[in-house]
Amino acid sequence: MSADTRPDTQPQPEAQPRPDAQPRPEPQLRPDGTLRHLLTLESLPRDLIERLLDRAESLVRPAGAPPPTSTELEGVTVANLFTEPSTRTRVSFELAAKRLGAQVVNLEVQLSSRVKGESMLDTIYTLEALYVDVFVIRDAEAGVPGLVAESVHPHVSVLSAGEAHLAHPTQGLLDALTVRQRKPHFGSLAIAMVGDVRHSRVARSAYHVFRALGAGEIRIVAPPAYMPEAAEFGGCTRHTTLAKGLKDADVVMMLRIQKERMSQASLPDADRYFAKYGLTPERLALAKPDAIVMHPQPMNRGIEIASDVADGPQSVIRDQVRNGVAVRMAVLSAVCAGRGSRAAVDRPGGGLTRS
Ligand code: NCD
Repeated sequence: MSADTRPDTQPQPEAQPRPDAQPRPEPQLRPDGTLRHLLTLESLPRDLIERLLDRAESLVRPAGAPPPTSTELEGVTVANLFTEPSTRTRVSFELAAKRLGAQVVNLEVQLSSRVKGESMLDTIYTLEALYVDVFVIRDAEAGVPGLVAESVHPHVSVLSAGEAHLAHPTQGLLDALTVRQRKPHFGSLAIAMVGDVRHSRVARSAYHVFRALGAGEIRIVAPPAYMPEAAEFGGCTRHTTLAKGLKDADVVMMLRIQKERMSQASLPDADRYFAKYGLTPERLALAKPDAIVMHPQPMNRGIEIASDVADGPQSVIRDQVRNGVAVRMAVLSAVCAGRGSRAAVDRPGGGLTRS
């Protein structure tokens, strides 16, 4: 490591399992090892992640080509249950489900947090009675997708579409796919995650998937106020300046300032933030010449990223969006494997609409 890329702090040691600890079964998997729920990428086996990425890759089409469609999920009903505003992710899940032939219902639920757990389960049980097979859930509160996953019937799956600041697993997978398309050898990559890492579920899921795929170096580049706690992001190097954090990086992943997770007092001044942490062409030049630039969107242009970088030749931000539908198709297909049309005919009255 050269002197000018020396991190501000050394990588955090990683928690080691107790020597007598038994491996716990992964609760997102069925006993036969297939994927049932997708709530987090943490602890998901690498081969399963790679299979999902391979399947997603096979579903990506070049811009302008018609998207792939199939009837694989005919007879399956998917409910998108979003209690936090989202257009992109919701539309991406909706298109993914429809392109596989599923029926889709979208619900935007506004609940006060005090009554949320209980009311959410009431909503879930109602939808289960309406033969919903897959719940796609976004919620600002930690634990809601997991609570639903524990409460549904065994044939029902739950996919997180963003849980508080903790997890956004399909975003992590689409980010990994986007990197893999340009830079398939993770072991030699230096990946910089830049900005409000502390409040970012995107950063946490990206960290889990990049680690699983064996990324050479993951750097966290953030102002001190947006640095995550020391116990998190084990093995990452930490930098408080772009000059050090971007040096010779292969991947520059910018993050949105998560205003909704901050008090008014800790909101940054936009101009000052851009002056220190905004990604400009000059700063991007610190990274490798072929570095790629990512952002999960929505972008705050002129605060986190300059428009000429966001729209420039190194940006893969639109690839991320395109890959998002493919990844969600791959995940839906994995959790519903073998269920599609059979599910329709197995039900009382099933098959009547398909004569
Ligand atoms: C992300 C989210 O909501 O977590 N956006 C998205 O899924 N399209 C990222 C963000 O809001 O910063």
